Amino acid sequence: MSSLADVRDIELVGAQQTLSPVLKAKALDNLLPDPILGDEYADRAMRRLDPDYDSRRFGTSQIGLVAVVRAKAHDDWARSFLAEHPNAVVLHLGCGLDSRAYRIDPPATVDWYDLDYPSVIELRQQILPPREHYTLIGSSVTDSAWLDRIPRGRPVLMIAEGLAPYLTSAELRQLLTGVVDAFPTGQIQFDTVSVWAWRTSKWDPTLRRYGTQFHCGFDHPAALADWHPRLDYVDEAPMNDSPILMAKAPANIRRLYRLLNLVPGMKRSTRIVRFRF
Ligand SMILES: C[S@@+](CC[C@H](N)C(=O)[O-])C[C@H]1O[C@@H](n2cnc3c(N)ncnc32)[C@H](O)[C@@H]1O
Repeated sequence: MSSLADVRDIELVGAQQTLSPVLKAKALDNLLPDPILGDEYADRAMRRLDPDYDSRRFGTSQIGLVAVVRAKAHDDWARSFLAEHPNAVVLHLGCGLDSRAYRIDPPATVDWYDLDYPSVIELRQQILPPREHYTLIGSSVTDSAWLDRIPRGRPVLMIAEGLAPYLTSAELRQLLTGVVDAFPTGQIQFDTVSVWAWRTSKWDPTLRRYGTQFHCGFDHPAALADWHPRLDYVDEAPMNDSPILMAKAPANIRRLYRLLNLVPGMKRSTRIVRFRF
């Protein structure tokens, strides 16, 4: 692994920068006595990125718990698909610095591909260790040439955590239909925001700071199954009132979410959805 100076030389721009608040949330979770995700790689990666990072200054209330709950929900769905399909190919798109392949640690019969923009992949290579049956792809997900590098004929698991809102609806549609066309069977799971959350994202202070915003949102994500005749909607899980969030969050955060969830549309403003084909 390289020195911290090299890590600092890699500049992330726009949506690429959104990988850091979610990484920090996962790193902070790992320091809890009873973590939700328990991701030690996130803590290590966060320390490499920010040498002054003193996570012990933070209390549970400052952790981005929804990001951690979202990651856990994706992991659980992924684990159950891989238990059924131990010969699967995994497409982990917009991977950022997430260490899902290490958390899930699939059997050697699974081939795992982590994809993000080239600069993010360069950063990953410096921060996270290599693995067997694991390949990094530096590309925009919208440049469909990357799909030609993936072996065909096996079940596919496509996971996109925190990615879909940064694509336009047309780009997401092209991605989903491209994956369904390329594989005999599979599961596609991603998270999405509501139309309201998409439209108001231009005023989100974090996204503004990074010079980005969301480009799509859906009030009825189940309807995306209509994009391809072989695609079936399975289910969805709202994040803002998830049972884990309500069980683990400190009382003041639980109260805040209960209050926020009374606002029409808030409860379903961010959810993860699962499709199969
Ligand atoms: C909110 S971060 C989520 C990172 C990671 N999935 C996680 O949950 O920790 C969004 C990620 O999507 C990536 N991304 C956004 N648009 C992309 C695109 N068109 N192609 C590839 N990656 C993209 C960003 O670079 C960033 O790493």
